[in-house]
Amino acid sequence: MTGSTGGTMENLWLADVLARPAPESVRFLGRAEVVECLAKVDVVAAVKDALMSHHLGRTILPSEAYLSWTNRHGAYSRSIGMPGAVLADGAEGAYGMKIINASVSNPEFGLERAGGLGLCFDARTARVTAVMEVGVLSAVRTAAVTAIAVEAAGYQAIRSLAVVGCGTQARVHLALLIARCPELSRVVLCDVRRTVAQSLAGELASRHPGISFTVAATPAEAMAEAETTVFLTTVADGYVQPDWVRPGSLLVNVSLGDLTDEVLTGASALFVDDVQLIVENPRRPLGRLIGEGRIAAKTGTDRPSITATLGELLAGETVAQRPDTGYVVVNPFGLGILDVALFGAVLRQADDADIGQALELV
Ligand SMILES: NC(=O)c1ccc[n+]([C@@H]2O[C@H](COP(=O)([O-])OP(=O)(O)OC[C@H]3O[C@@H](n4cnc5c(N)ncnc54)[C@H](O)[C@@H]3O)[C@@H](O)[C@H]2O)c1
Repeated sequence: MTGSTGGTMENLWLADVLARPAPESVRFLGRAEVVECLAKVDVVAAVKDALMSHHLGRTILPSEAYLSWTNRHGAYSRSIGMPGAVLADGAEGAYGMKIINASVSNPEFGLERAGGLGLCFDARTARVTAVMEVGVLSAVRTAAVTAIAVEAAGYQAIRSLAVVGCGTQARVHLALLIARCPELSRVVLCDVRRTVAQSLAGELASRHPGISFTVAATPAEAMAEAETTVFLTTVADGYVQPDWVRPGSLLVNVSLGDLTDEVLTGASALFVDDVQLIVENPRRPLGRLIGEGRIAAKTGTDRPSITATLGELLAGETVAQRPDTGYVVVNPFGLGILDVALFGAVLRQADDADIGQALELV
């Protein structure tokens, strides 16, 4: 039934239709509250535990949902839905979903490129129990994976580090890697927007006076200086040439698009976070190369192959060795279960200290 009040139409048929269930609310955490909770979480340990759980088959990791479009500024825009669960031994575990959206034109308008929401689900009722800002969490979990990979691949004692792409991820990566690589004395930054690299170098130099921060004009120049290079750009087509790679170095391919096929196929060792998700995604170079049969998903063939997962390295099933002349590539696709594990850790802190806001749902 539809009624009319003062000229506006109102739907009256829905009033009092439903029974009266128990009240429900969700905890909402903005960025400031997420950061407050994260200060009490050992994020590297939490992400390491989740990688181990994944290795031991104690996770549920469905395929990602991926929606992309071009916005009215002609910029690539997308939304990724990443559900997952980390099952705890005898306990209820962490269930949830990350929604991470991005548009490459956002920085022009003063916005971070990527942003979204982290959702926690109740294991018993399956209800959404918490909603939190995810930009900072996403950067923290990605940086934690890089830190774990650097250590697991045998590069913790590096003295020199290059970072190509100096946006949000770079800021969080550098903060964490500087804290975890005690011998680091030289950091080279590179960004197509040179002023962005210069201002980040200036900020870091005042925070870490014992480390030299310089800006390279090109990625090749940055890579030549460093034992480890982390790629954190927004590039879609590979440009890194094999002769730019410093012998013995580690390349962490976080942005997934920077390395040419030759660099990926020529690595002495290739470590990933999850083989299945990579194979399922031919939009990214490594998935495409596996689909084309140019890289094998498993060792034991005469083709270049994935050497091991980070879980296998952490479990000691594969022991990484730093090569003298070759180089190592880590290709972290990005696993929603790692975010979900961190959402759970953040929510525990928020529940304990009653941080955030209760939003009434029902
Ligand atoms: N694999 C994963 O798990 C994972 C997780 C999160 C983000 N990412 C990826 O990390 C990348 C960085 O994310 P962000 O949030 O820091 O983005 P951002 O937009 O904040 O920063 C990207 C920076 O790269 C610079 N850049 C672009 N092209 C470049 C080039 N050719 N050479 C040098 N610099 C260049 C830009 O000027 C910008 O400063 C994105 O590609 C994102 O998709 C990967």
